[in-house]
Amino acid sequence: MIAELKFPRHPLAELAGWDERVRLMVRPRRYEHVLRVAELACQIACANRLDEARAYAAGLLHDIARDLPDAELLRLAPPECAIDVGHPLALHGRAARTLLERWGYPDSVVLEAVEDHTTGPRGGNLVAACVYIADVSEPGRGVNADIRELALCDLGAALNRAIVSKVTYLQGRGIQVHPRTLRSYHALPELRSPACDLPGVS
Ligand SMILES: [Fe+2]
Ligand SMILES: [Fe+2]
Repeated sequence: MIAELKFPRHPLAELAGWDERVRLMVRPRRYEHVLRVAELACQIACANRLDEARAYAAGLLHDIARDLPDAELLRLAPPECAIDVGHPLALHGRAARTLLERWGYPDSVVLEAVEDHTTGPRGGNLVAACVYIADVSEPGRGVNADIRELALCDLGAALNRAIVSKVTYLQGRGIQVHPRTLRSYHALPELRSPACDLPGVS
């Protein structure tokens, strides 16, 4: 139940009313996941000296289209490749961005993070990296605790591990990798958080 959630609501989300929109768009268990992702993304941003408010907002909004039917996802985010056609669920990040833009959400950094959370962040958007890592490693998933812990001290290293292991896993089984994930893979060397560049922080 929502009342039992242990994470505090972020003032930015409350003021804008976006948390209520998300709650109305997704199933209750999804909403709990969303709040965990937002909270963890905020923690990762804080640990890496990045924009906490943007990370929280992107975490809050990332799955707003996740429970829409396939036909609606395809309408909001026309397929770009055969993977999208065969698995419309892969479109829920792009569909979320379309919805948010139509509703007037103003922050392009957050919108890009929402769009890319299913396939991987493009180089340079560290808010997107926070959300991507939080989504795959939030405690409710029960997996990727190592990536979560790594991200709390070195976001770049955590993203590298997450993306490389995903691409390696898929390619090792002969499964086609989404072109956007390959884009994220090839962008990895460019993505370093400010904290990682500090002396003594590897
Ligand atoms: Fe998602
Ligand atoms: Fe998610």
